[in-house]
Amino acid sequence: MVDSAESNAAVWKSEASVAQWVATEEERERARAWPRRLLAELLPFAETEEFTFVDLGAGTGAAARAVLDRYPSSTAVLADYSSQMMEEGRRALAEYEGRYRYVEIDMAAGRWPDDLADDLQAVISSLCVHHLTDDRKQGLFREIFERLASGGWYLNYDPVSVDDPAVAETWQRVQDRRDPEAATKRANRTPEEEARWQNHIRHIIALDPQLGFLRSAGFEAVDVYWKELDHVIFGGRRPPA
Ligand SMILES: C[S@@+](CC[C@H](N)C(=O)[O-])C[C@H]1O[C@@H](n2cnc3c(N)ncnc32)[C@H](O)[C@@H]1O
Repeated sequence: MVDSAESNAAVWKSEASVAQWVATEEERERARAWPRRLLAELLPFAETEEFTFVDLGAGTGAAARAVLDRYPSSTAVLADYSSQMMEEGRRALAEYEGRYRYVEIDMAAGRWPDDLADDLQAVISSLCVHHLTDDRKQGLFREIFERLASGGWYLNYDPVSVDDPAVAETWQRVQDRRDPEAATKRANRTPEEEARWQNHIRHIIALDPQLGFLRSAGFEAVDVYWKELDHVIFGGRRPPA
């Protein structure tokens, strides 16, 4: 049996899947402009402050770009395990040359690059933590906490699930209203699209346990800072010394 980490890697390290993802990225990003901006604004830095943040599962850098735009003196460390996504990212980040670098990390394994061992000023992640098992979500939040400087923030933008079928139905109804072709697309997925979809939803869980993971890792100021239907921005900070 293929395990979930392997099938996730098969999606994100496949030229074809990444090409398909990148081809549709611009359209998806149009709907995400506001949460991208808000995540940047939630970071507690002054407009002109020099700081470095880490974007975990950065992909082509959509979340990092929002932060780099908001804080012109900031620099980013983009962490991912897909060389295909990093290659696409280098194209997307051309105008940020000198303000970012990519590092390799496998969030499912919990091994971090040596130069991200401590004192991180801020960590963000978007649309990737849901690819991890619950154990690894919890482990990752602990690892982030241990590596953050005192007072450093972690913010995560991700989809969540819900147990109440009436709520799930409501989320779907609104999404289908926004994309009138959604129901047809759902019913007519190619085998590749179905595999990508199953990989996408496999480890999505509800919000509450994830807030609990943050709190038990030691974070304070834990909150859901934004929510629209099944997408949320949540996070917290390592207590100041
Ligand atoms: C849906 S994309 C999101 C990319 C970007 N954060 C964004 O918001 O557009 C998911 C990203 O997570 C990365 N990823 C998935 N599992 C990972 C893992 N175990 N370790 C490191 N990166 C991973 C993928 O390579 C991909 O770049």
